[in-house]
Amino acid sequence: MNKLILRGRVLTFVEEPTSIDDQSAYNYFEDGAVLVEDGKIVDVGEYAAIAPVAADAKIVDHRPNLIMPGFIDTHLHFPQTQAIASYGAQLLEWLNTYIFVEEQKFSSTAHADFIAGRFMDELLRNGTTSAVAYCSVHRESVDAYFTAAEQRGMLMIGGKVMMDRNAPDALRDTPQSGYDDTKALIAKWHGRGRAHYAISPRFAITSTPRQMEMSQALVREHPECYVQTHLSENRDEIAFATSLYPSAKDYTDIYAGYCLLGEKMLLGHCIFLSDREISVLAETKSVAVFCPTSNLFLGSGLFDRDRFRSLGARISVATDVGGGTSFSMLETMSEAYKVLHVQGQRLSPFASYYMMTLGNARALGLEDRIGSLRTGGDADIVVLDSKAKPAMELRMRTATTLAEELFILQTMGDDRSVAEVYVAGKPMKSRIDTATPQVKARALPELQTA
Ligand code: GUN
Ligand code: FE
Repeated sequence: MNKLILRGRVLTFVEEPTSIDDQSAYNYFEDGAVLVEDGKIVDVGEYAAIAPVAADAKIVDHRPNLIMPGFIDTHLHFPQTQAIASYGAQLLEWLNTYIFVEEQKFSSTAHADFIAGRFMDELLRNGTTSAVAYCSVHRESVDAYFTAAEQRGMLMIGGKVMMDRNAPDALRDTPQSGYDDTKALIAKWHGRGRAHYAISPRFAITSTPRQMEMSQALVREHPECYVQTHLSENRDEIAFATSLYPSAKDYTDIYAGYCLLGEKMLLGHCIFLSDREISVLAETKSVAVFCPTSNLFLGSGLFDRDRFRSLGARISVATDVGGGTSFSMLETMSEAYKVLHVQGQRLSPFASYYMMTLGNARALGLEDRIGSLRTGGDADIVVLDSKAKPAMELRMRTATTLAEELFILQTMGDDRSVAEVYVAGKPMKSRIDTATPQVKARALPELQTA
């Protein structure tokens, strides 16, 4: 029997909320149910209406927890899983000191395989069922990434990072090898199961004009693929990037000049853009990816959401691990709230949960499959416990509305708030717990005290 009924408080978005009391933006069933069959959602609604028509289904009672679509992360780096929390440097120094050292470890397939498994499990532990990640420059890291996703049934997007300058020798490809490897990986992975490929020139600093031309060719030859890069994250980065492309009007114009912008393009950060640049993103339907924990951690700056809104540009939200400090989209939205608050911009709890789910699915053009609980959609689902920690339970005693509960969950919650996570209808929590039993029990390397 493969019919499953998940019973609980079901919440899913149908539109972007326009205000904190915009009830037309979501469906909420206090005693709700999601009927799942063969990895797909068959029905969503009141438990009392669904239970009788699926009498043969196995029922999993998640009450009083919330049942929502699995979270989506639109930008992070799988080879940086062990480089989170690297101290004291802003972007360019951080890349050189920590990241370009860490990513070299992925020339070992054994290491890439190990980290890929832990990376996917960490996403799931945090309720993230789909994500868009950069792999390392090594082709095998992409195999490790998509294999680990496939073993878990996850819809994942990713690609081999391309970089042919301003990086250590061991991390550089060439315009030709970057092109050839990307072609081979697209042929191998794009459209296999739930895998989607992202053509990934790291950023203008690490790609020569020749590599940009090859990226342009890849994008032209593979319009079905995503494209991802970084844009306007840090002032020194902007100065360096624009100095390398002196004929470009500004940083955005570098990518525009190689016809890389478009509705499949995800641009990490976009902190210091001019109105002209934001308008170009709007015209090309490119997506600016807001990475709040990373922008604070690397001391980069504050993402000005309202300017993107007023100029009509698309945005999404992401962790950017390892510049980002948490795999949790709840923690990410908690920081997003603060980044906007300090600029006098408001992020309502409903808008926040919209962004993590349907908003990010729309940014990826995948709203038919993921990001909401809807008939025919994929059964990627998170079950959330807003009383997962003693302090949350205490705080929740005074909460009276759903908006308040969501805000508490976002502000105080983390992986402990994820009671269960389903990928294509399969419960994953016990699998993750078995895969990483008591990490504490493992021997730790000796720590230097000086
Ligand atoms: N810009 C180019 N590469 C990176 C990276 O790995 N992380 C972040 N945050 N910014 C980048
Ligand atoms: Fe990044």
